[in-house]
Amino acid sequence: MPFIQNTWYAAAWSTEITRSLLARTIANENIVFYRTEAGSVVGLTDRCPHRFVPLHLGRLKGDSVECGYHGLCFDQTGACTLNPHGDGQIPRAAKVKSYKIAEKHGVVWLWLGEASKADESSIADFSVLTNPKFRTVCSYLHVQANYQLISDNLLDLSHGQYVHPMFKNAEGPPRFEAEKDPHSNEVWAKFSRPNQLPNKYFQMLGYPKDQRGDHRNFMRWNPPSLLLLDVGMTGVNRPVEEGLSIPTSHLLTPETETTSHYFWAMSRDFRQDEDDLSQELLRVGVAVFDDEDKPVIEAQQRAVNTSELMSLKPVLLHTDGPAVRARRIVEAQLQAEQR
Ligand code: FES
Ligand SMILES: [Fe+2]
Repeated sequence: MPFIQNTWYAAAWSTEITRSLLARTIANENIVFYRTEAGSVVGLTDRCPHRFVPLHLGRLKGDSVECGYHGLCFDQTGACTLNPHGDGQIPRAAKVKSYKIAEKHGVVWLWLGEASKADESSIADFSVLTNPKFRTVCSYLHVQANYQLISDNLLDLSHGQYVHPMFKNAEGPPRFEAEKDPHSNEVWAKFSRPNQLPNKYFQMLGYPKDQRGDHRNFMRWNPPSLLLLDVGMTGVNRPVEEGLSIPTSHLLTPETETTSHYFWAMSRDFRQDEDDLSQELLRVGVAVFDDEDKPVIEAQQRAVNTSELMSLKPVLLHTDGPAVRARRIVEAQLQAEQR
């Protein structure tokens, strides 16, 4: 199963890339990341062209990586700048790929395809992650499943009723509203629970337990698999700004066909100064995503094995519309790149 090349993948949280070498596989490509002395992020093929030892086993020397086996050095452009052997001549083939990288919204974005086609303005809007109006906590999860299974999970939030006790609602699964006027490169999956009592999550966040309100879960998807959930609760028929908003980012990046990187973050516009609440949200996120979603999705991956999900002709429900549309957008881009 190939992966889209000309797109921005979330490669890391900005805070993960330091003056140490970080190895990460993205869409089957082994890459070593680090930060230059000036602070920009570099991504090089994590394989020395001499005897193919991963470069992340070497060390950083200034802005170059010294291979840990025989000492060839590669700079941030991937060019070999030092051969400590013989007459020191640098063989023509001694170079590695340097990937096109952008850093935006506290995320390191990676472009696998042709660098000339990379346009930073096409990175989906995750400015909420660095917007000072919000306090954000973020985390990372490794999942033994294809990234599109995770995207399917997030585009059908009716599962919250069955998988997550914290999100369960006394009055049953949320109401799903199909998109009337879909955008060609964006998908929305809107779930709402109008005029209901808060679930355990909103009670924890401080919404009064006995006060009815409108609860929304509006998920936005952008290719290749970047999701932002506008989630909040406000008084019945009251403006969103009056209530609690806790937009949640889900950046999914394929590692291999059957494993994924899952970067998630919760940004809140209330009780921003409370460190205890930040800790509690991290704990809840781990309980929900790691302990509840992940086992379901990994079991699903084992059940479909290496088959492409749609080729197995799954039963389709009303709430599957957004996930199917997102898969079609990915498929269309893959086909366009293969032509
Ligand atoms: S394997 Fe890298 S220098 Fe030999
Ligand atoms: Fe979930």
